[in-house]
Amino acid sequence: MGNKLIGLAPMAGYTNFPMRKICEMFGADFVFSEMISAEGIIRGDITTYKTVPKEKCRIQLFGNDPSTIQKAIKQLRTFPETIDLNAGCPAKKVVKKDQGSALLKDIYLLKEILFAMKEVSPVPISVKVRLGYFENEIFSIVEELVKTPVSDIYIHGRTKVQAYSGDADWNSIFSVAEEFKNSGKNFFGSGDLYTPDIINEKMRNEYLKGVIVARGAIGNPFIFLQSKRILENKKNIEIDNISKINVFLLFLKMMMEEFGERSGIIESRKYFSGYSKGMPCSSKIRNAYMRLTTYNEIRLMLKKYSDELKRINDPISLNPD
Ligand SMILES: Cc1cc2nc3c(=O)[nH]c(=O)nc-3n(C[C@H](O)[C@H](O)[C@H](O)COP(=O)(O)O)c2cc1C
Repeated sequence: MGNKLIGLAPMAGYTNFPMRKICEMFGADFVFSEMISAEGIIRGDITTYKTVPKEKCRIQLFGNDPSTIQKAIKQLRTFPETIDLNAGCPAKKVVKKDQGSALLKDIYLLKEILFAMKEVSPVPISVKVRLGYFENEIFSIVEELVKTPVSDIYIHGRTKVQAYSGDADWNSIFSVAEEFKNSGKNFFGSGDLYTPDIINEKMRNEYLKGVIVARGAIGNPFIFLQSKRILENKKNIEIDNISKINVFLLFLKMMMEEFGERSGIIESRKYFSGYSKGMPCSSKIRNAYMRLTTYNEIRLMLKKYSDELKRINDPISLNPD
């Protein structure tokens, strides 16, 4: 298991610097940026630039024009660890421009882009795909991808048409990784990795280099540490609620540094549900959180809540006399 990897998957609107940092702190072997528009980079679009990582990590670009993507790579100011091409995004606004998962319908263009990326990229390149566009065609897709200069192939076990419905088809991921085991490419699986046990089960497949975790890591960076402990046959670590709140406060501080106090707090709301999941009175505390707009209010509210949790966990303190 030694050289297997568990990474943070790319997620638009989520895998910003604070989320990447906190997942690395809790054991992610590598972390991905959000998908970044190649056109946006070369247009000098400010919103796009805000999503370009300043630290070394795996970045993902989307686009469909080989020369635009080449130009975007040349404009990156920091060398990433690897550069990935998004060939899986099912979002309407992306697909209607023939980008993201639409590339699965034109495998020759997809290959041309990957060759163009390799020509100018100072770092290894990779591609992230779904099983197919309309239906599962992963064998014929990968048969072509292994002829390109990518180092890594990430496979989300659903088609574009499925979007996020149904279960991810891990048998297809395993079979294709086995079929092309001598291709020299690293295969990573993605889909429905919500618990350390599920991650552990998938990681044990001998043909996969690893997995990438997406939704299961939102508000739950601990999943990396916990999964690795199981993989290494070590005792599981349960993270208690008070520690989760403390980690969330650290995350919130990073969000405020990144986006400013007000925007950082507003952006943090969608992560708070993950951190508070399963805690006593979690829906009440989530509703309260959504109304707070300053760090001080949040700190006080969560301090009060933590004190309450301590009392619940420590019945003696309920009746100190
Ligand atoms: C909110 C959200 C944003 C996503 N953004 C991206 C993206 O930018 N690039 C990408 O390749 N996949 C993206 N994905 C897909 C994930 O990387 C992953 O393949 C998929 O969610 C399945 O994994 P999961 O079941 O662990 O969430 C996104 C998924 C979600 C839920």
